Amino acid sequence: MKKIAVFCSGYGSNLQAIINAVKRGRINAEIGLVLSDRVDAFALVRARRAGIPVLFADPVALPDREEFARYVCRQLTARKIDFVVLAGFMRILAPYLIRRFRNRIINIHPSLLPCFKGAHGIREALSHGVKVTGVTVHFVDEICDNGPIISQGSLKIKEDDCEQSLAKRIHKLEHRLYPEAISLLLEERLRVKGRKVYIDG
Ligand code: GAR
Repeated sequence: MKKIAVFCSGYGSNLQAIINAVKRGRINAEIGLVLSDRVDAFALVRARRAGIPVLFADPVALPDREEFARYVCRQLTARKIDFVVLAGFMRILAPYLIRRFRNRIINIHPSLLPCFKGAHGIREALSHGVKVTGVTVHFVDEICDNGPIISQGSLKIKEDDCEQSLAKRIHKLEHRLYPEAISLLLEERLRVKGRKVYIDG
């Protein structure tokens, strides 16, 4: 069975959706590690509750991005991790790690990329006044929020939406889309050709 590592920095609702999907047999993998760059991330509590090994990768002890990546890479290799799933991981990974896990790291972003890249996708979509926004699952490459797109889901912004109400609907969409994409990745049905991702079968 393939092993995945999930990287989180915060609340971990996407991690929980992944844990649930594994439990229900919708994702055929073992979560071999939950890694966080924040010691107080609630995601670590969720992982411990589910009996998943956790690791706090301390960015203060590893201030250099390259060193951080080398440390993380050693941990992934030691635990025989096949794929890395970023789920609200708010740190940019150095090219060292991306090269070693080429097309084996995916990310979820709360906007329709390439719009509203960065740490505030929901807020920026709302303040820009777009009528439609959504969620993007993509492979991670050397440029932030840039890699080939695996799947997207859209939703309408309501006139009375605030950041919280919109975030709620975005998260609901994420919790459906991410396990689906992870499952395709694990089944090795995703073929990357240039910027395009083809789904086999
Ligand atoms: C999710 O909405 C995810 O798309 C976003 O952080 C949230 C984490 O929520 N990621 C980014 O903004 C990455 N640029 P969670 O901790 O409840 O899963």
